[in-house]
Amino acid sequence: KTIAVLFGGQSSEHEVSCISATTIISNIDRDKYDVIMIGITKEGKWLKVNSIEEIQSDKWKGSKETAVISPDATQKGILVQNGKKTELISVDVVFPALHGMYGEDGTVQGLLELAKIPYVGCGVLASAVSMDKLYTKMIVDTLHIRQASYVAVLKNQLTDMDTVIGRVEEKLSYPVFVKPSNAGSSKGVSKAENREQLVDALKLAAEHDRKILVEETIVGREIECAVLGGAEPKATGVGEILAAAEFYDYDAKYNNQESKTVISPELPEGVAEQIGKAAVEIFKAVDGYGLSRVDFFVENGTNEIVFNEINTLPGFTSISMYPMLWEEKGLGKKELVDKLIQLAFS
Ligand code: DAL
Ligand code: MG
Repeated sequence: KTIAVLFGGQSSEHEVSCISATTIISNIDRDKYDVIMIGITKEGKWLKVNSIEEIQSDKWKGSKETAVISPDATQKGILVQNGKKTELISVDVVFPALHGMYGEDGTVQGLLELAKIPYVGCGVLASAVSMDKLYTKMIVDTLHIRQASYVAVLKNQLTDMDTVIGRVEEKLSYPVFVKPSNAGSSKGVSKAENREQLVDALKLAAEHDRKILVEETIVGREIECAVLGGAEPKATGVGEILAAAEFYDYDAKYNNQESKTVISPELPEGVAEQIGKAAVEIFKAVDGYGLSRVDFFVENGTNEIVFNEINTLPGFTSISMYPMLWEEKGLGKKELVDKLIQLAFS
């Protein structure tokens, strides 16, 4: 069988995706699958890539061959074009190793649905809902799981800043977090301690999305859980993020060596189990399939679990929480990648 791995992409998480892809590709069972690598540039150009080394060195961006998934369901494959020559390569399954916009948000999943090619991970709906913090909030509001109180703001409402500030201050007290509704890896997110900072934070978030979320600050530990499966998804134990920066922003996550992940951290009794149960409930509520990493806080003082976000295509680097949590459960990266591909077929 032939598997196509998509990576890179137009989102702010382009670089992380390239690293995730190298981990995924090097753990695919080559006795079972031929691998085709397709890199998507930040501009959105789809290129045929020939090796992991090309991904690591960024050389793939100079590829002369384009490779696009044909939406034609009677072709089920990839059109590779080099100069005037076009060739159709059949593909049995796709692994979208993409994070964020145009990869984790249902758009690529929609293309694969049209093409009738099975793919790893969540479908269109789960991907779209989970990528949108506001819609995720609305779904989780229907469950008995706590999440930070919030106010939704639209970019065009910022022309009447006084009204927006009024709505926020009526419901929440400072400090608050301000986040673009659609964005990964904390880009455009900031914390506001007062009205002045709130205005700046809203403007910053508006550069990333037309919908903005203002949230109550939860002071607590950041605990994450990995979910895997189809009709009966299973959760792992939990892991903790010990962030170097004040909160786990893009820089702390990928550039700051001080950020640490701890697998199976000490937690008050029953908390890890509560998180595992809630993670599966949320995964099911958003119509999840395949995989997701579900992130929580354990609030200081109360020890209550508070849902933070669900990532349907979590980071898959060698030091990422998702594969590490499964390794702790006895499922190595090779078995995990194999299981994810098998799920795409069922
Ligand atoms: N969005 C990044 C890749 C993560 O959740 O791991
Ligand atoms: Mg994310």
